[in-house]
Amino acid sequence: MPLYHPSEEFVSQANVSGMDAYRALYERARDDPEGFWAELAEEHLDWFKKWDRVLDSSQAPFYKWFVGGRTNMTHNCLDRHCKTWRKNKAAIIWEGEPGDQRMLTYRELARLVERFANVLKNRGYKAGDRAIIYMPMIPELPVAMLACARLGITHSVVFGGFSAEALKTRILDLDAGAVITADGGWRRGKIVPLKPAVDEALADCPGVRNVVVYKRAGNEVELVAGRDHWWHDLNAGADDSCPAEELDSEHPLYVLYTSGTTGKPKGIVHATGGYQLQVSMAMRWVFDIKEEDTYWCAADIGWVTGHSYIVYGPLLAGATTVMYEGAPDFPGPDRFWRIVDKYKVNVFYTSPTAVRAFIRSGVEHPEKHDLSSLRLLGSVGEPINPSAWEWYYNVIGGGRCPIVDTWWQTETGSIMISPLPGATPLKPGSGAFPLPGVAADVVDGDGASVAPGSEGYLVVRKPWPSMFRTLWGDPDRFRQTYWSQIPGVYLVGDAARKDKDGYIWVLGRVDDVMNVSGHRLSTAELESSLVRHPSVAEAAVVGIPDELTGQAVAAFVTPKQGVEAGDDLAAELRGWVAKEIGKFARPKQIRFSDALPKTRSGKIMRRLLREIVTTQKVSGDITTLEDLSVIDRLAAGQSED
Ligand code: PRX
Repeated sequence: MPLYHPSEEFVSQANVSGMDAYRALYERARDDPEGFWAELAEEHLDWFKKWDRVLDSSQAPFYKWFVGGRTNMTHNCLDRHCKTWRKNKAAIIWEGEPGDQRMLTYRELARLVERFANVLKNRGYKAGDRAIIYMPMIPELPVAMLACARLGITHSVVFGGFSAEALKTRILDLDAGAVITADGGWRRGKIVPLKPAVDEALADCPGVRNVVVYKRAGNEVELVAGRDHWWHDLNAGADDSCPAEELDSEHPLYVLYTSGTTGKPKGIVHATGGYQLQVSMAMRWVFDIKEEDTYWCAADIGWVTGHSYIVYGPLLAGATTVMYEGAPDFPGPDRFWRIVDKYKVNVFYTSPTAVRAFIRSGVEHPEKHDLSSLRLLGSVGEPINPSAWEWYYNVIGGGRCPIVDTWWQTETGSIMISPLPGATPLKPGSGAFPLPGVAADVVDGDGASVAPGSEGYLVVRKPWPSMFRTLWGDPDRFRQTYWSQIPGVYLVGDAARKDKDGYIWVLGRVDDVMNVSGHRLSTAELESSLVRHPSVAEAAVVGIPDELTGQAVAAFVTPKQGVEAGDDLAAELRGWVAKEIGKFARPKQIRFSDALPKTRSGKIMRRLLREIVTTQKVSGDITTLEDLSVIDRLAAGQSED
């Protein structure tokens, strides 16, 4: 396999220049992690009060970082820059799908954040409260997040593609007191309403006292008197200045829900101090961020990528971050390249699914635009297949831009494994090496490192500053799921291989979590949604390989007695899943059968189902199967989306 070396020109200007520089950082962190992180925390962040201890492991795995320190995320994202010439630098360059645009300087962003923080304060919210944010990709989304962070209100952003039902589950789990939303947003030329889903969810959430609605799309909405308010009305009466709360380093900044192996999503809790440090360092090391860069992460803020690398990371770095509201293919498949050209984007970060969609739509679209401003490309969310990597490298990067294939998770908060663009020779498809301070390894079931070339479980052996602290309301599940299978070691849930040169290749999940377009979906969550439908007796869900989205959802459904199985029921079930979870979770394939393959002890044999959907037959061991004839019946009859 060819190695792609960074050009001398790139190396000479890089924040981490050459492999020796990477190794020196890595070894320094390995030999004295606390000293390493403490030095960086002093150099790169402001603290109202310095910490007493860098790391407290006494309650492991409930680690604490920068214990006793006091800080505020928005002080480091905004106030710090506003004291310098950066007050007039563009913080956010935003483009709406219809083509409208806004640019917010650091000072202007700070003003909006402080004003909205006062809105929340005036409504009685304070540090320790929780707010749900359910908004389109408009600047008011980061404004709302930052306003919460300024006061110490723990925010939870719910992706706008989630349904009312999913929204309700999150509001209730978090016992949130406020919802910040919008009338709607733009997607593929149409208005996607959001407020009606909030209304539906709130019918069962008496704890929500206030709903603030930003007017974005102009669609008709109903405001419930006493509970719902227009953002602009509340803003009009609020003051422009609101000091940042001096919060404990461990104060929970946000909770973000993600799918696990049960039907109940996990509330991943991130703290303030350690998170801001590691996210800042990734901007420097991985994105090689420079003062003059225009940086664009094309993710959605509803997922962790957007939290860390559209909002917090770039603003901590004092960078200019681009934000785009809508679909990548609207009004045409060249929208992204138009944006790159228009704003002269230098650093561009997207997902392998997006790259595969670009490949499918054809080189003529990027070729129509001048992409010569690009100097660095990134990938995240799923393994990138080498052919997609090469296309991205050659067609988008013009053969001159290193690609950082960044491996991380909602749980890790920040990038953990990635090439450093001015140091690491690249192997297409590999995330290369752990970042300094990250003790990643590939191990067997007992926690012993596997030999080069062998597959094993990806783990992290030591705590890291941006690690999640617990699962909201469920510390036992936190300990059980992540820290108990190999005691004291963080079990990631991915399989990986380390090659003879030490490069890490992440292969995919080892649990019942699917990765569809880089979004995590739980088989159990989908199954429990399907069996709640009145026509369904039983359901099993597996992930199948998909050329575009990496994996797709295949559902096996046993209808109740007397229910007619067919395309109508399949369409209804797809609509049901869209309503219960969100449109993005709809099964691609639905197969009906009068029984599912089970072991004699009643466990569904997912391995067989996976084989059926990928090869249409079963060759593996079926000796534990209860009813052999089920297999033939299952292989027949499917309904494609
Ligand atoms: O399986 C890995 C995959 O995405 C999972 C994390 O998903 P989520 O928490 O939604 O966060 C996605 C964005 C950070 C991981 O367990 N994954 C993420 N990045 C990569 C990846 N798999 C391979 N290569 C990557 N670069």
